[in-house]
Amino acid sequence: MSGSDYIQWFRSAAPYINAFRKKTFVLVLSGEMVRSDLFENLIHDIALCHHLGIKLVIIHGSRSQIDEQLELHQICSRFHHDIRVTEADTMPVILQAINQVRQTIDARLSMGLPNTPMSGSDISVISGNFVTGMPLGIIDGVDMQYSGKVRDINATAIDQLLDQHVILLSNIGYSRSGEIFNLPAEELATEVACALKAEKLIFFNAEFIKNPLTDQFSTQECEAYLQQEKVSSHFAALLQHAIQAVKKNVKRVHIIDDSLNGGLLQELFTREGAGMMVTNLFYEGLRKASIDDIGGILELIQPLEVAGALIKRSREQLELEINFFHVIEKDGMIIACIASIPDFKSSMAEVACVAVHPDYRNSGFGDQMLTAVELEARKSGLKNLFILTTRTSHWFLEKGFNVGSLDFLPEKKRQTYNENRKSRIMIKALN
Ligand SMILES: CC(C)(COP(=O)(O)OP(=O)(O)OC[C@H]1O[C@@H](n2cnc3c(N)ncnc32)[C@H](O)[C@@H]1OP(=O)(O)O)[C@@H](O)C(=O)NCCC(=O)NCCS
Repeated sequence: MSGSDYIQWFRSAAPYINAFRKKTFVLVLSGEMVRSDLFENLIHDIALCHHLGIKLVIIHGSRSQIDEQLELHQICSRFHHDIRVTEADTMPVILQAINQVRQTIDARLSMGLPNTPMSGSDISVISGNFVTGMPLGIIDGVDMQYSGKVRDINATAIDQLLDQHVILLSNIGYSRSGEIFNLPAEELATEVACALKAEKLIFFNAEFIKNPLTDQFSTQECEAYLQQEKVSSHFAALLQHAIQAVKKNVKRVHIIDDSLNGGLLQELFTREGAGMMVTNLFYEGLRKASIDDIGGILELIQPLEVAGALIKRSREQLELEINFFHVIEKDGMIIACIASIPDFKSSMAEVACVAVHPDYRNSGFGDQMLTAVELEARKSGLKNLFILTTRTSHWFLEKGFNVGSLDFLPEKKRQTYNENRKSRIMIKALN
């Protein structure tokens, strides 16, 4: 990377750095990841996230280390529905394996040698009795013994510590009766992320939904994918956790390609990402408009027309164009709208009539609508979006639009361009 490429990349990461500061991310590291060649670099990337002000909870699994320890002790595990039956006499061996993983992560996060990415790092890591577990009980007549599930998370205690410390949790929970239960790390992480209302829950996995058009999926799309596609039981469980987390207020769940060196940073700080994201943020209340929405749209846009921010649209014109509109509805009221009018001859769509009700501004609704419209244009094979704007050019600049000229517009639009209004022409390439 040349010096200027590097500067360009660093600048492009700035909005993400600002957005993530003081937000809570829950990360799941499997036992396999901890012993992979990429682990050391992943630790450096986690440390960087911490130093950028992200509040981190790391939850580790230990399956492969437990397997190894049990084999060393010539103990054969029983599994039921892919869950290990954790027997009382094997518990000391299992806990030894779990502790070993936690100490490895602790040790790596404590590094601070000069001439390494950890130089001057000084991270304080805290573990504790934040997770209450309970027995899974007897399933199909099989006593699962010390295999457990989450009963409660002390989110208040974790939250209070997150400003200063990284929280590291092993895949265990302590019961009210003082016993220790072996928990599945992914399930524990999902519960923790929900209890903390985390900004992000992050899994690493080899399998994720690949779609050349988008890496963002709603819970509904994930559910449909699980119905239609054949996926491994592990990935199906991971998607179910992602769906559950998003439905319970975790804003975004990421599944990052675990074979990629730097996958975490690529997913968090670049537009291209390195895996897939599950979120309903872009979809809640957002839908295609219908003829019944015209009254609500008019109510929303008329004050903006009077103020000169939007060009006047008659009810008749709206009726003709209504199929090109998306709206966001909250509590029965249209609080935002956007139109995207395709011109297939020039492979462009005109974005128009972008409006968010003043009470709902600066909450990302404008951004959500634009993202939806972009996705739709991409799916239709269009190459560019354009908009004519008098007062909002900087907002569109921040969304990846560039200032363009009249020559770029479809001919019909060129002919009707109002020279007196002097609208700025903004263009976004969809490649
Ligand atoms: C422009 C508009 C659609 C943005 O909707 P929104 O839901 O508030 O947008 P988002 O929440 O996604 O983005 C908000 C950010 O954009 C900034 N922003 C809003 N209007 C802006 C403008 N005219 N120029 C530059 N930035 C602007 C906000 O300050 C905020 O920045 P911050 O996150 O750093 O605080 C909304 O302000 C609006 O309806 N404006 C009046 C109608 C209009 O001008 N439409 C455009 C016609 S071309």
